[in-house]
Amino acid sequence: MIPTHPLTFLTLGMVLTQSGCMLPESHHWEDSNGSQLHPTIQKLMKGYNRYMRPNFNEGPVEIGMSLDIASIDAISEINMDYTATIFLRQRWRDSRLVFPGNESVSVDGRLVSLLWIPDTFIPDSKRSFLHDVTVENRLIRIFSNGTVLYALRITATIACNMDLTKYPMDRQVCTLQLESWGYNLQDVIFYWTRGNDSVKGLETLRLAQYSVESYYTSVSEAVYETGLYPKLVLHFALRRNVLFFILETYAPSTLLVVLSWVSFWISQSSVPARTCIGVTTVLTMTVIIMILQV
Ligand SMILES: *[C@@H]1O[C@H](CO)[C@@H](O)[C@H](O)[C@H]1NC(C)=O
Ligand SMILES: *[C@@H]1O[C@H](CO)[C@@H](O)[C@H](O)[C@H]1NC(C)=O
Ligand SMILES: *[C@@H]1O[C@H](CO)[C@@H](O)[C@H](O)[C@H]1NC(C)=O
Ligand SMILES: *[C@@H]1O[C@H](CO)[C@@H](O)[C@H](O)[C@H]1NC(C)=O
Repeated sequence: MIPTHPLTFLTLGMVLTQSGCMLPESHHWEDSNGSQLHPTIQKLMKGYNRYMRPNFNEGPVEIGMSLDIASIDAISEINMDYTATIFLRQRWRDSRLVFPGNESVSVDGRLVSLLWIPDTFIPDSKRSFLHDVTVENRLIRIFSNGTVLYALRITATIACNMDLTKYPMDRQVCTLQLESWGYNLQDVIFYWTRGNDSVKGLETLRLAQYSVESYYTSVSEAVYETGLYPKLVLHFALRRNVLFFILETYAPSTLLVVLSWVSFWISQSSVPARTCIGVTTVLTMTVIIMILQV
């Protein structure tokens, strides 16, 4: 279905782009059954070309981002990655979508395909997906001044370079990066909507082995052979809870060693006492170890 050869795709893109401006109105809706749309949106979409970014030929479009970290499910030392579920919210102004009044319209997530949206991606992600139960978890809201809010719920497994030399008293600094795939800095600028406060949910996160020590956001640029691309980075530091290790590893090991000394402490002549105490001690220690590990 989707043409795979880049040239085919380019040609198709150009045909679609050009035909979008010339065909009669009904053709804008060919792929979306547009006759059932809200009148405001129907009016807005008249002549809208989703292959052109906002402010085309008028400087870059500024895209504000904020994040909610819903959970960090797994931090893996073996794979050097973590898995997080995030709500990513992007907002930008598209002057073609200005409409009268001061309300906002929430648009069905499926109509996202009618609008221009940023091509944000997570460069360090190994696997990621957009949740789609019961519908694709995305939201789009258009304000009367042309501001578009676009939110997504994503789960991603993201690489994190860990330094394990101080394990288990280690502290890991991981990042979450957002970059634009195809628009360079002349086309698109990224910014955090509220600086360090753009990221929510990290303070209240409960992780089995770690606690989030600190975090901050930064704006940077990604340098590739094809140019400079906008990039936002969330840095966060995780500190391992040593208590977990004391209970899980050190306490049981210590008890086991102590256990092996028991028979030495009883006089060699009293054989029944050695047997009896030895067995009860073993039982008691086993129970203690089990309780500690629960
Ligand atoms: C919407 O349009 C598609 C073709 O693009 C068509 O197959 C489908 O039946 C239409 N749905 C409705 C509800 O009209
Ligand atoms: C804009 O909103 C305010 C309250 O939020 C309301 O009082 C006012 O009438 C609205 N203006 C228009 C033009 O809808
Ligand atoms: C557009 O309207 C929204 C909601 O009323 C507001 O938050 C935003 O700041 C406005 N944007 C501009 C550029 O005025
Ligand atoms: C965000 O936090 C970092 C580290 O605490 C700090 O260096 C930076 O100035 C802060 N940025 C803003 C915009 O407050």
